[in-house]
Amino acid sequence: MKVCVTGKHGQLATEFCSIAQSEKDMDLYSFPHNEWDITSLSQTQKILNDHHPDYVLNTAAYTAVDLAEEEQDKAFLVNAKAVEMLANECHRRKIKLVHISTDYVFNGKWYHPYTEKDDTNPINVYGKSKLQGEEIALEKGATVFRVSWLYSTTGKNFVNTMLRLAETKKQISVVSDQIGTPTYAKDAARWILKAIKQKLPSGLYHFSNEGVASWYDFAVAIFQLTKTQVEVIPIESKDFPTKAKRPYYSVLSKQKIKSHIQEKIPHWFEALQECLTEKRSIL
Ligand SMILES: NC(=O)c1ccc[n+]([C@@H]2O[C@H](COP(=O)([O-])OP(=O)(O)OC[C@H]3O[C@@H](n4cnc5c(N)ncnc54)[C@H](OP(=O)(O)O)[C@@H]3O)[C@@H](O)[C@H]2O)c1
Repeated sequence: MKVCVTGKHGQLATEFCSIAQSEKDMDLYSFPHNEWDITSLSQTQKILNDHHPDYVLNTAAYTAVDLAEEEQDKAFLVNAKAVEMLANECHRRKIKLVHISTDYVFNGKWYHPYTEKDDTNPINVYGKSKLQGEEIALEKGATVFRVSWLYSTTGKNFVNTMLRLAETKKQISVVSDQIGTPTYAKDAARWILKAIKQKLPSGLYHFSNEGVASWYDFAVAIFQLTKTQVEVIPIESKDFPTKAKRPYYSVLSKQKIKSHIQEKIPHWFEALQECLTEKRSIL
């Protein structure tokens, strides 16, 4: 099976490639932004024609949630228009597209884990652009994974931001009224790989680690596990204004994916432990 991956240096692509490269029956080709810009139709066509993959995993995205409020056109170009081109080109060649979306397609007013059937209603530009992308991909027969609060050993993410801030601060204020599930990109990559290998029916799937946390809980856990001496102060979102609004609640229900892949999904705390252990070993 041949798989082409976009956005090679992103968190999810890095983890996916690191675990999939040892798969015996998989030929893996991953492309960084400068080799495959998904907004370029000619690059997409050339790569698909040259490689004839069975699967394309699209991890490439415009992920700057706050900046997207100012760069709407760019966010929609990468997260929606480019996905439409990719979905069309894959569909035409009978290539299976696996596309990644986000918990930010929900408005967070429903305090109950969101299922794939729940109504979407994004409250920021990033979420709106991702929703348009996933809808187009689904129309063209893709498999779409919505994931939440991704982090990994490297890259721009909450774990690395907290550890960096703790180098210079004794107190860090973190919002405690936004609830979701932190997800280790390696676990998301593992489940996406299982889904590809099991040839899961196309459609929409939710995936995150198990459990529920606020950003405050997540920060406390990061500092507890790394034995970092820092005081974490819980604050409300209204006291930490950001350009983009975020949903107050965006826990994803994983019932659908669990009915197809009967393996225990790690709890977010356990996954964080694994990530921090891995991080220590590569530092
Ligand atoms: N991060 C999260 O918390 C989170 C949460 C839920 C869902 N997701 C979704 O999960 C997926 C993976 O996220 P991630 O955290 O791994 O993202 P990431 O680390 O920000 O990586 C995204 C990658 O896409 C590349 N990229 C941007 N524009 C591109 C373009 N036009 N053509 C090709 N590559 C392009 C970026 O390259 P440059 O850096 O060179 O631009 C970057 O390497 C995305 O679909 C994202 O929307 C993320």
